[in-house]
Amino acid sequence: MTKKIIIGSDIKTAQQNLEKGNLVAIPTETVYGLAANAFDIKAVAKIFEAKNRPTFDPLIVHTDSIDKIKSWTTDFPSWAEELGNYFWAGALTLLLPRKAIIPDLVTSGLPHVAVRIPNHELTLELLKSLDFPLAAPSANPFGYISPTTANHVFEQLGEKVSYILDGGKCKIGVESTIIGEENGKLIVFRKGGIAIEELEKVVGKLIVKEHSNSNPHSANKQKELTKVASSGMLLSHYAPKIKMRLGNIEEMIKEYLPNNELQLNEIGILSFTKKYNQIPLKNQFILSEKGDFSEAAQNLFAYMRELDKLNIKIILAERLPEKELGRAINDRLRRAAY
Ligand code: TXA
Ligand code: MG
Repeated sequence: MTKKIIIGSDIKTAQQNLEKGNLVAIPTETVYGLAANAFDIKAVAKIFEAKNRPTFDPLIVHTDSIDKIKSWTTDFPSWAEELGNYFWAGALTLLLPRKAIIPDLVTSGLPHVAVRIPNHELTLELLKSLDFPLAAPSANPFGYISPTTANHVFEQLGEKVSYILDGGKCKIGVESTIIGEENGKLIVFRKGGIAIEELEKVVGKLIVKEHSNSNPHSANKQKELTKVASSGMLLSHYAPKIKMRLGNIEEMIKEYLPNNELQLNEIGILSFTKKYNQIPLKNQFILSEKGDFSEAAQNLFAYMRELDKLNIKIILAERLPEKELGRAINDRLRRAAY
């Protein structure tokens, strides 16, 4: 039996599949998305099934213009205008009050819809060709590491998608920053590809929600969340299967050495800039030798996947400086290690 080729860069094939209500993986500048027609409940339901994602976790709706967003939201406040005009197309998601044309399944019944114009040539062209927006979470099984190449999607969801639109390696590598309004204040619900410092230059001081104190894994808990919830706010998320610890790598290695609890070749390293002499080189992944945050973000998820394939017992990782993109990276590391 020959395996059907499902990876390619043909926009027409992607378009036709989406129009039929099928799932298509799409490239964006942040991570790959698992997309379906946002107006078609049956198509959207396939996303939750393929990802094994609980339906109380809402989806981001992607399109190619602010005018289209205005046609399915009841209000587009001045802060959205400022942020949208400045950062779109880009790694920014805004929570806006929705019209009924956006199905409950997309927003998990929440009054707001998460919207974003992604910055990727192929996907923008695709979105332009469609007369509906695309609901798309990251194209990974729920809770696992987000995909930053077409092949990452193929490895885990290849059986479940009709087509993977290959747009190369994602340029940013971490998900979009999510912003919404609560009680007249602008809140960052998820740190992401656009640094808070950059956003603040445009709209002033932002309040950062570090993590949700309600657990969206529980349906009842979720009902208590009145307005917004973000799975990117779950304590454990973006996680490899192998246990990961976050801290001072040198000290963590020392902890394992005297008691021989682990062989040195059973330890994997995810460091920012440095190698560690004690550990075999093939087990070490350095996010950016020159200490560049953008390069580190681009490599983060791919390296976590590589480490997860090794025959090791533990991954030791370290935090980056807590500023700019380092904040979004640290947030992912913290959840991966939880
Ligand atoms: O960069 C990204 O944002 C990528 C690409 C594909 O666009 N998408 C992505 O989607 O990361 P996902 O589903 O993995 O994460 C979206 C987050 C979820 O944590 C979800 O809870 C939150 O956005 N979200 C979506 N709709 C929401 C809503 N109506 N209210 C509050 N939070 C919402
Ligand atoms: Mg995700």
